Amino acid sequence: MKPGKSRSRVGVIAARRRTTLYVIALGVWLTGAVWLLYHYFIRSVDQFGFENIHPQQQYWLVAHGIFAVAAAWMFGVLWPGHVLGGWRAKIRRTSGGWLFGGVAWLTLTGVALYYIGSTQWREWTSLAHWVIGLGWVVPYFVHVWYTRNSQR
Ligand code: HEM
Ligand code: HEM
Repeated sequence: MKPGKSRSRVGVIAARRRTTLYVIALGVWLTGAVWLLYHYFIRSVDQFGFENIHPQQQYWLVAHGIFAVAAAWMFGVLWPGHVLGGWRAKIRRTSGGWLFGGVAWLTLTGVALYYIGSTQWREWTSLAHWVIGLGWVVPYFVHVWYTRNSQR
């Protein structure tokens, strides 16, 4: 059997692509987390003593939006070989399934955030987005940990 075609090679991510994936995953997570820090804990005080949204909060959202597009692109790159290949071979299905569900949810709710008009619905969608976003690291680390600590 040719190298790269055997069952034991299913799902392997080439080193350079893996680095790109790590940068994008870290970027999308950190920019979302820093936005939350500004939103909930950091305010700017104007000359009259009023607290306002800190101007940097907006920049972090723009950065997040850029990383979000990159994340959608990376997901498309991983889809044919990594996701479909791993799924069909029944390897790493549980953590991989959670990762897939997480990305689908984050993409859907992220896009919804652009278009939802109702303030109340937007607040719930925002919460549903970032709670799952922050928690996404759990299946991610489990997924990577299993890879690093098993022959397969
Ligand atoms: C958004 C979805 C996913 C992401 C971001 C992702 C990411 C990763 C990463 C970062 C690794 C570790 C690579 C390494 O350290 O060498 C890995 C390994 C692996 N993943 Fe995924 N994964 C996803 C979905 C899936 C799914 C759905 C499956 C299959 C059911 C799967 C199967 C595997 C397998 C089999 C490995 C081990 C590959 C090897 O032996 O090198 N992954 N994945
Ligand atoms: C596949 C991954 C992700 C995608 C595609 C995505 C997409 C988006 C999009 C499109 C927005 C709206 C941007 C705007 O209003 O200008 C957004 C907002 C946001 N995202 Fe994500 N995101 C992802 C992952 C994450 C993660 C991992 C976190 C958690 C740290 C997170 C936290 C946030 C927060 C806090 C907001 C602002 C919510 C608000 O405006 O009320 N996102 N995301």
